[in-house]
Amino acid sequence: MKTDNINHEFLDGVLDGSHPDVYYHFGVSNEDSLLEPLRDVRAVIMAGSGGRIKEFADHWSELNGGAEIVAFPKDDRFVTRYTAGVLFASHGMGMPSASIALQELMRMVFFLKGGDEEAMADVFWARVGTSGGVGLPGGTVVVTSEGVMADLKPYRLIQGGSGTYWFDSTFPADVYNAIIAASDHTDFDVVSGKTVAGNEFFLEQFRLDGAIRLETDESKMEWLKWLHDNGVRNIEMEGAMMAGYLNHWGFPKFAMICCTLLNRLEGDQVTASPEQLHKFSEDSGVVLFNYLKSTLLD
Ligand code: URA
Repeated sequence: MKTDNINHEFLDGVLDGSHPDVYYHFGVSNEDSLLEPLRDVRAVIMAGSGGRIKEFADHWSELNGGAEIVAFPKDDRFVTRYTAGVLFASHGMGMPSASIALQELMRMVFFLKGGDEEAMADVFWARVGTSGGVGLPGGTVVVTSEGVMADLKPYRLIQGGSGTYWFDSTFPADVYNAIIAASDHTDFDVVSGKTVAGNEFFLEQFRLDGAIRLETDESKMEWLKWLHDNGVRNIEMEGAMMAGYLNHWGFPKFAMICCTLLNRLEGDQVTASPEQLHKFSEDSGVVLFNYLKSTLLD
């Protein structure tokens, strides 16, 4: 872990009881007894939708002999469940929403592990989501090798004083390779590639079907082909930030697993049937659980 990048000024006082830490958007604080069983957390799994989180937690509980599921009481922002060593939490849509979830979850893990960096480094993080494929048909699962923004540069934020703060938004290669290896017998393709995180579903993904249109057919295709030529295989809305923040603390084990809903080289609208969408979404879950089973089940 990168000790100097952890906010010890704030977090050490939580450990020594000087002040509590309120994970406001999750509706709990470090002083809640509800968090006590979470001290054994070995993985934090994030997904956009709360419904998905409940399904994931139910499935993981079943795989663990019906382990008890702890449900966080507040669910108007994020839906959260804990069972059998895995904390499942939704993060909403886009980097502003997902960054709130991730910062509070990182603080929670710091507290749960008593600031022990070795124990924190053992925690596996993943986002499971949906995306637009770049040269890949709907139904492909992409395990991200590097998160980039729409200009193919790493995640960054405007920061007072020093201008722009650049993050390392690469994903650990040993982890994405192990995830792909754990799913080598599926009836759908599982590939690695770079992933663009757009700040918008329409404009920063160069769609022509938004209420506002800033691109032409030509500029859209030029962008998509440029992405493809540079190794991008899908587009979503959170991965670059997620990798940037987890790398900032030095977490060594994290990944992003996204199914594609469409091939953006062929269109903008998501026209897959509800049955197809259900199967796509199930498939990214299959890849996640193949990996969790291979690493966490005894
Ligand atoms: N999610 C996105 O962000 N983009 C898509 O095209 C599909 C899902």
